[in-house]
Amino acid sequence: MIKTFHLLFILLSIISFVGRVILSETYPSLLQKKVVNIAPHIINTLLIISGVALIFQGGWLSISYGWIIAKIVALLIYIGLGIITLKQRGTNRWLAFIGAMACLVYIGIVAVTKNAFFFL
Ligand code: HEM
Repeated sequence: MIKTFHLLFILLSIISFVGRVILSETYPSLLQKKVVNIAPHIINTLLIISGVALIFQGGWLSISYGWIIAKIVALLIYIGLGIITLKQRGTNRWLAFIGAMACLVYIGIVAVTKNAFFFL
């Protein structure tokens, strides 16, 4: 149940991020709208809360938590790159965007494999 919400919030988070990038390229004035500004914060907060709830539900802190730390670090990098993506223009914007997407892929694989070093 909580995992379903976690997955839903991930989807909404990705849609709200990619959506804002598309808006800033097409209709930047819409980014000033209150709902467009506030909704991503609510979605991302719910995403983190559902992740924390899953940690307790699965008792992950007493089993293995290295992968959770890796997820949180990658999430912070994703947030940072997301901010850069929305603030920058040109090449820097797209480099940050690709980095943010790579973080998402990494977080997703770490979540499924429960291994921060799945690539080794
Ligand atoms: C963009 C951010 C995130 C993505 C893409 C993501 C992705 C996923 C995915 C795909 C799963 C399902 C894994 C499976 O069923 O095998 C999952 C589960 C989980 N996630 Fe996240 N997650 C994110 C953020 C977080 C955060 C911030 C936390 C912790 C603070 C977290 C903690 C967990 C936990 C504990 C599970 C459950 C593992 C289990 O019991 O099988 N996630 N996540």
